[in-house]
Amino acid sequence: MIAHLSKVLQPPASNSRLHGFSVGTFGGAPDIQHWLNIRNAAFASQTAGSRPWTEADFHREFTHQPTWRREWMWFATAPDATAPIGTVAMTPAKRQGTPAASISWLAVLPEWQRRGVGRLLIAVLEAAAWEEGFREVAAETRSDWAPAMRFYRSLGYRPAARPNTCA
Ligand SMILES: CC(C)(COP(=O)(O)OP(=O)(O)OC[C@H]1O[C@@H](n2cnc3c(N)ncnc32)[C@H](O)[C@@H]1OP(=O)(O)O)[C@@H](O)C(=O)NCCC(=O)NCCS
Repeated sequence: MIAHLSKVLQPPASNSRLHGFSVGTFGGAPDIQHWLNIRNAAFASQTAGSRPWTEADFHREFTHQPTWRREWMWFATAPDATAPIGTVAMTPAKRQGTPAASISWLAVLPEWQRRGVGRLLIAVLEAAAWEEGFREVAAETRSDWAPAMRFYRSLGYRPAARPNTCA
């Protein structure tokens, strides 16, 4: 079952830092492969039996969408990793008629999980959402994906009264 979650934003604190890690926005073609590597590894257990995504899937999901903005996709890097280790994207949505930001495809490579990278990516997304004038952020996940549910709960996301609609 899909869990619809949301969080009302407060002015972001300037604590979106994690020692040794940095976050940058989508930088062009090489980041497509980085995104696919992270997506395919992070969701491997949840999507067992389904095929890995390809570049065509990436374009269908992101760059071919009218709401695509390269500055709304982020990648986390670690000093001792040769490629990005986590990613998230933001899309516009509506919550009960009010514009909101929606979290899209949050994923951290399995070997880099539980080090605060997911929290860092969401802090960066929430700060960007605030700057854009959004005051609520929505997230969707599967209610039987316990790590994702615990993750969002730990960051203050709560079940939303109604699902989001596209902007
Ligand atoms: C969900 C996901 C992005 C979390 O990323 P992460 O970098 O491991 O998360 P963080 O280290 O920032 O965790 C922040 C907090 O969330 C909670 N949390 C995260 N993973 C958890 C887990 N496996 N079990 C229990 N709590 C968890 C904890 O409270 C954690 O704080 P703590 O480590 O200080 O206890 C990662 O597990 C992932 O990529 N999963 C596969 C893809 C997915 O489910 N994406 C999101 C749903 S679409």
